[in-house]
Amino acid sequence: MDSTGTRKRSAEKIEVAEPQNKLPCSAPSLSTEPALYSGSFPFYRRPSELGCFSLDDKRQYYGDARALRYYSPPPTNGPSPNFDLRDGYTDRYQPRDEEIQERLDHLLRWLLEHRGQLEGGPGWLAGAIVTWRGHLTKLLTTPYERQEGWQLAASRFQGTLYLSEVETAAARAQRLARPPLLRELMYMGYKFEQYMCADKPGGSPDPSGEVNTNVAFCSVLRSRLGNHPLLFSGEVDCTDPQASSTQPPTCYVELKTSKEMHSPGQWRSFYRHKLLKWWAQSFLLGVPNVVAGFRNPEGFVCSFKTFPTMEMFEHVRNDRDGWNPSVCMNFCAAFLTFAQSTVIQDDPRLVHLFSWEPGHPVTVSVHQDGPYTFLPTWYVEAMAQDLSSPPKTPSPKD
Ligand code: A3P
Ligand code: MG
Repeated sequence: MDSTGTRKRSAEKIEVAEPQNKLPCSAPSLSTEPALYSGSFPFYRRPSELGCFSLDDKRQYYGDARALRYYSPPPTNGPSPNFDLRDGYTDRYQPRDEEIQERLDHLLRWLLEHRGQLEGGPGWLAGAIVTWRGHLTKLLTTPYERQEGWQLAASRFQGTLYLSEVETAAARAQRLARPPLLRELMYMGYKFEQYMCADKPGGSPDPSGEVNTNVAFCSVLRSRLGNHPLLFSGEVDCTDPQASSTQPPTCYVELKTSKEMHSPGQWRSFYRHKLLKWWAQSFLLGVPNVVAGFRNPEGFVCSFKTFPTMEMFEHVRNDRDGWNPSVCMNFCAAFLTFAQSTVIQDDPRLVHLFSWEPGHPVTVSVHQDGPYTFLPTWYVEAMAQDLSSPPKTPSPKD
């Protein structure tokens, strides 16, 4: 927001923000009732990849694709797979330290290093929303979620709205008390990735190695939901060197594990609950296929199935207790509009905390300079320098 009270939303469009001293009569909130969001599917720009970064086995950042892995499933004409997902759990597992809250830091580092090269013109970022794909996934599934609430911290800085998840007290308590069986199940999801991916194109997976969940390859994408320009990043499991399009994100593959199913009732429940989460995660990033490995009670994957992201909804289209992509996307758009109109003041140390619990509307609280502040000083100072330093005059050699 500048001194005249106008907030630059994009190069072309300038919106007048509400005066800062005009407070609403009652605290604003946003309903999450699915029936309110069942209109037609909103505009969602095909996500395009702006860049990527990698995190190594010590969670160190690299501005390249070194952690990208290559989809390498067993041959379809060979024996059926027999992947032991428990192998290595006790002796070859380096789990990431979940106590370390990274917030948006890695994405902000990428943004700082590429802010001068963003497509869409110099004003584009000022009108955009910057966040993780995982946070948007939670928004998409909110109208159908009955168990886990969330909190999203929001700050406006140089026009841009940044959204960063805050772990709820309940989620933290659950994480700290995670039962051993659930810990092992988490490992098994990562172990499946190791069975299905090679480090080099044309290479073979090496399941004898360690599973280190610090390692990550993240794609950074641009999209738009309704009139909300988006810049977000998401972790990508692998790329398919054989995919018909070699262009990201359409060459990417999402890997998942799930329990083997034996009855129509089990499949129905899978379509209603798990497929919704898989769809939301992959649709946002433009990943065309999710490859599921089905594990038996002993923890072995003996079969796969590919679920094309764009066909997932078909499994619940005629199910009264199913989910609807329009509801997910319309709710997300409504939340972004709500956040954009609530967070007016441009101040990187001011946080509007959006909180949601199942069965309730989304509510907001305001926090200045407190523990919720998430935009790091190194980011704020470097971005502020851009505005204060005079434009570079080309030297005769340029
Ligand atoms: P599965 O989903 O196959 O079980 P992702 O699929 O998003 O790439 O995540 C890889 C694995 O991380 C998951 O594999 C799961 O084991 C673990 N994981 C991801 N998100 C999780 C969550 N919210 N709770 C527990 N485990 C999670
Ligand atoms: Mg996965």
